[in-house]
Amino acid sequence: MAERHPRPYDSVLELIGGTPMVRLHSVTDGSKTPVYAKCEFMGPGGSIKDRIGLAMIEAAEAEGSLKPGGTVVEATGGNTGLALAMAASLKGYKCICTMPDKMSSEKVKLLRAFGAEVVITPTAVPPDHPDHYLQKARSITAETPGAVMADQFYNPANPNAHYATTGREIWEQSEGRVTHFVASAGTGGTITGVGRYLKEHNPDVRIVGVDPEGSLIAPYFNTGEMIEGHPYKVEGIGNDKIPGTLDLDVVDEFRSAGDGVAFRMARRVSREEGLFAGGSAGLLVHAAVEVAREIEDPDAFVVTLVCDWGERYLSKAYDDDWMRENGFLERARPRSVLEAVRSKKSRVSTLVTVEPTTPVRMALSAITAHDIGQLPVVRDHECVGSLTESRLMAQIIEDPGLLDKPVEAVMAAPFPVLDSHVDAEEVRPLLARDNAACLVRDGEALVGILTRYDVVQALTG
Ligand SMILES: Cc1ncc(COP(=O)(O)O)c(C=O)c1O
Repeated sequence: MAERHPRPYDSVLELIGGTPMVRLHSVTDGSKTPVYAKCEFMGPGGSIKDRIGLAMIEAAEAEGSLKPGGTVVEATGGNTGLALAMAASLKGYKCICTMPDKMSSEKVKLLRAFGAEVVITPTAVPPDHPDHYLQKARSITAETPGAVMADQFYNPANPNAHYATTGREIWEQSEGRVTHFVASAGTGGTITGVGRYLKEHNPDVRIVGVDPEGSLIAPYFNTGEMIEGHPYKVEGIGNDKIPGTLDLDVVDEFRSAGDGVAFRMARRVSREEGLFAGGSAGLLVHAAVEVAREIEDPDAFVVTLVCDWGERYLSKAYDDDWMRENGFLERARPRSVLEAVRSKKSRVSTLVTVEPTTPVRMALSAITAHDIGQLPVVRDHECVGSLTESRLMAQIIEDPGLLDKPVEAVMAAPFPVLDSHVDAEEVRPLLARDNAACLVRDGEALVGILTRYDVVQALTG
């Protein structure tokens, strides 16, 4: 370890850049093409934006627009703000960030932890709306004396920083062997700066862009048209306009992939490679593996990025409930009927039954009290008959005198009873035809009921 850092540093700012490159093994699913990830999450601010935060502040100092006691303002998905806040506080500036409300709460808290003032803006407004995070940052800059806007979407210091550091590092770490570079564009600073550096050193290096579905960069690249676009969940990449810092001339192709693909791959990268990846890295690695599998060339050298640290997304990509609510993870299908009974989100915790001698009036109140559609009639742990709400109602309407008769006078055939270990798939055909429900037995006891409603619920998720 000491060889990597032989001397102490003067400040954390000296630790920016110089991130390691790590080969991916498991997530490449057996491809012969080597794929490497540059671990940008290992920078002091935990993201690739560390590089441009300091660079943009130094550029503003050099040009004289940022003076001692000044304020740095930025519209940010979070990571740039963090990088700016860190560099600003070490250099004695104030930092104000505007941020769309789709960004994770972790990022807001992080920004505040690093001393930034955070202004949250709505995500679903057009780019020219005064509440759009960019417009908001512009108006704050105009109203604050001594403020400069870092303006990562238009500031040439952004791609220049990636040209000077990220691009050079990738070239040197691959010993000039890099054949493909796969990245997304948020501001486009990364893909532009790295693309320029690599193409200057080897014009055959292929620069592959990957865009989240809903962003309009890939559609614009591929068709020349500005589409409408739609919101997506991956953070930090894609755009609803073409930023000034994106030079599409250095890009050879642009692909797209969806949120679900990105988040599931991010989880694989963390679990299988031990690199705690944010959601965007899932999209990049997915595309890098796609490229690797298309070329199947052991002499190629595909490089992509893990842009930020997964801990920033614990409440999203790494939260199973959030993933399921958004349709990015399938609900685990129960294997046995017992599992199916246990996984029911039932309002009734125990199995409600009546005896053959129970008066119909009481059975009916059990049905209404528990808001259930059917009721098994049970004697000595055996199902001897069944009641269904609709049939019972019809019978009572025809003959109100039935209310005081015992249930056995009106009950229909018993529900089928399945042993607990029976495959849950066997329930569907049983309920498709004559039976409104079936019961599950565990040992002696009847432990639950599976109804048509439950089956349809499971099918529709
Ligand atoms: C979280 C995140 N932020 C930013 C970027 C790159 O952004 P930019 O185009 O602004 O350099 C990436 C990936 O390429 C990313 O994953």
